[in-house]
Amino acid sequence: MIADLRVSVTDRCNFRCQYCMPAEGLAWMDRQSILTFEEIERLVSLMTKLGVRDVRLTGGEPLVRRDFPQLVARLSALGTIADLSLTTNGYLLKRDAAALVEAGLNRINVSIDSLERDRFFQLTRRDSMDQVLEGLETIMAQPGIGSVKVNAVAIRDFTEEEVPRFCELARNRGCQVRFIEFMPLDGDRSWDPSQVLTGGELRELVEKIYPLVEVEREPSATARVYRFADGKGEIGFINPVSEPFCSDCNRLRLTADGKLRTCLFSINETDLREPLRTGASDAEIEAVIREAVAGKELRHRISESDFLQPERTMSAIGG
Ligand code: 5AD
Ligand code: SF4
Repeated sequence: MIADLRVSVTDRCNFRCQYCMPAEGLAWMDRQSILTFEEIERLVSLMTKLGVRDVRLTGGEPLVRRDFPQLVARLSALGTIADLSLTTNGYLLKRDAAALVEAGLNRINVSIDSLERDRFFQLTRRDSMDQVLEGLETIMAQPGIGSVKVNAVAIRDFTEEEVPRFCELARNRGCQVRFIEFMPLDGDRSWDPSQVLTGGELRELVEKIYPLVEVEREPSATARVYRFADGKGEIGFINPVSEPFCSDCNRLRLTADGKLRTCLFSINETDLREPLRTGASDAEIEAVIREAVAGKELRHRISESDFLQPERTMSAIGG
């Protein structure tokens, strides 16, 4: 069964990353269509009974949802989640770091695509690198946080230059840095295979500076992780385009408006909000979830000529 669930808590975001959203933003979902904390809690509780162990909260940007740490506390209080984690752009992390850890958050990934202010601005369309780095420092300083990772989406002719800076971050700050290949989920729909800077190419760039040693991984792990041969820190590569890991995928996604997606690239999704709001029993909702999971895609088709980009872009799916 499925062990990993990603829950998007809002499609809204305070950034406009080039690889995700158009500059002018998107038409946000209206408030009534977004699941309430109670609804999210019920679905997560049900899914943990069906085998989900790990839950990651995503967006949009999760921290723009009002009282978000309260949701973390409610989910943590279920007592059924082995690992409760969050993906954030870090902009509001200085404000929320202590509350999140207090609420029971186990791990966090902060998305940072550049470590140079002007280039960070260019990519995210927000001049906020310093604030994000402050957020990163604040969360790393919390004694209760299990692990802090930095995610960087890799784009050809942009990320190459960032490699030395990210190596220094990984080596000196004690947070694993992971490069993610650019996938066709952008709001501008301008993705092209030529923009994918592969994990293999990035690893070569790293190895020109520092030799690496591969770290053993779980079969369902998405990242290939390496440690620097001198023992100082780790760096990872998530290669969904050049080395698809679909056959080991054990992930499900719940969108902010209550649709269950069995793949990032699903063309069809399963509505759970309607049964939730029309008084379905746990057993009825469970049957709907089981049926959706039984139809989980075997693999994505990014590299095929008939590939169709899903209607939802990343911010409306949840990373
Ligand atoms: N390709 C790869 N990763 C993406 N993300 C957002 N859009 C894309 C894309 N088109 C990443 C963000 C964040 C996570 C939620 O998903 O950088 O780390
Ligand atoms: Fe916002 Fe994340 Fe999309 Fe950037 S990638 S625009 S931070 S949702």
